[in-house]
Amino acid sequence: MAAIRPRSRFFLVFLAVAAGGILLPAFPVSGDPGKSPLAVLAPGDGALVSAGRVLVIGRTAGEGIVRVEIDVNGKGKQSVPVAGGGFSASVPIAAGRNVMRVSAGKASVTTIVSAAANLSASGKGAYVYHEGVEKCAECHGAGRKGYAVASPKDSLCYRCHDRVDGKKHLHGPMGSGDCTACHDPHGSSHKSLTVARPDSLCVTCHDQRSSEGHMNKSRGKACTSCHDPHSSDRSFLQK
Ligand code: HEC
Ligand code: HEC
Ligand code: HEC
Ligand code: HEC
Ligand code: HEC
Repeated sequence: MAAIRPRSRFFLVFLAVAAGGILLPAFPVSGDPGKSPLAVLAPGDGALVSAGRVLVIGRTAGEGIVRVEIDVNGKGKQSVPVAGGGFSASVPIAAGRNVMRVSAGKASVTTIVSAAANLSASGKGAYVYHEGVEKCAECHGAGRKGYAVASPKDSLCYRCHDRVDGKKHLHGPMGSGDCTACHDPHGSSHKSLTVARPDSLCVTCHDQRSSEGHMNKSRGKACTSCHDPHSSDRSFLQK
């Protein structure tokens, strides 16, 4: 999903204002993967990781970019090859706040990564990689170009996971097999690798006027305490 997270939306507004109201091509941009020519896909901006070496996954949109440079805290650039529009690298992240800057020519993207020594992977708010994410070819390649997914998107995930679309009523985005509308296939800071916090995931699509009453009443409670996000035999996807 290419939704602009609030942080980067403010950042873009700030840039527009700073530029006297004229929208300049915004470099550097703070992580809107849909718009920038360069994006860090993992770890997410603001991620909390265990200090040490961290796997960075990214993509370039521009043709002909063959290398990107990754710098953490201004300590020197690590040059990383790009193939098929994607790259990955193992990058040293120290305890504390790290400013990671990935650049290619004039384009750059900044990701803030915080690290704690000996953070347990299950620690609250910790960034968790999708298990086996380092084996890129499990999901990419297999005769397809670059980092296109290795099988149609509705069957890729079911190669390893039980089907979640077996019940009578299918949730909207499930109709097109769009697992990545809600899940980040590389990793996430949220439970069950979702793309947003539990209290904002559903309302990215559901804040329509017609359901405001219901939303207001239920906001204190997790949506998934009553609804199944995938499919259900009961009406309104009730559990
Ligand atoms: C568990 C499956 C899985 C694994 C393992 C995986 N990816 Fe992905 N990747 C995906 C999916 C699914 C998408 C499409 C995301 C979407 O629909 O938004 C994607 C998208 C991408 C993209 C963006 C492609 C584009 O055209 O925008 C890049 C680049 C990428 N992955 C690189 C990698 C690299 C590098 C690795 C290994 C370090 C890796 N991925 C491992 C599932 C995976
Ligand atoms: C190559 C095998 C493989 C593929 C392909 C794969 N996964 Fe996974 N996934 C795993 C394994 C192994 C785990 C960790 C064990 C578990 O929780 O099931 C995992 C964990 C997860 C979790 C976390 C489960 C939890 O309880 O926290 C989610 C969500 C997930 N995968 C979604 C996806 C989605 C969406 C796709 C398709 C884009 C996908 N996976 C593709 C192997 C895979
Ligand atoms: C509308 C958002 C949404 C979509 C679309 C979606 N999921 Fe989920 N998924 C979730 C949420 C939210 C959870 C956590 C459920 C909970 O906490 O009860 C979850 C949990 C999971 C889990 C963890 C185990 C489980 O069943 O609770 C897996 C695996 C998973 N999803 C796979 C998939 C696959 C595969 C697809 C695509 C076919 C998919 N999801 C599409 C929102 C979604
Ligand atoms: C990517 C967009 C998207 C996200 C995210 C999303 N939904 Fe939906 N949802 C839809 C669409 C599309 C429909 C079908 C059209 C409609 O009924 O509004 C739907 C329908 C529903 C319905 C009504 C089903 C019916 O039988 O009328 C419920 C309940 C629901 N969603 C709950 C949730 C919950 C809970 C979450 C968070 C776990 C969630 N949705 C996240 C897009 C989304
Ligand atoms: C306490 C249980 C409960 C919680 C929590 C809950 N819902 Fe519902 N939801 C229902 C029931 C029951 C219905 C069936 C229609 C009704 O009674 O309003 C429903 C209907 C819906 C519908 C379809 C009808 C409509 O109003 O558009 C959507 C969409 C929906 N819920 C989304 C959500 C989202 C998003 C959340 C979290 C912010 C959420 N629900 C939290 C019980 C709940």
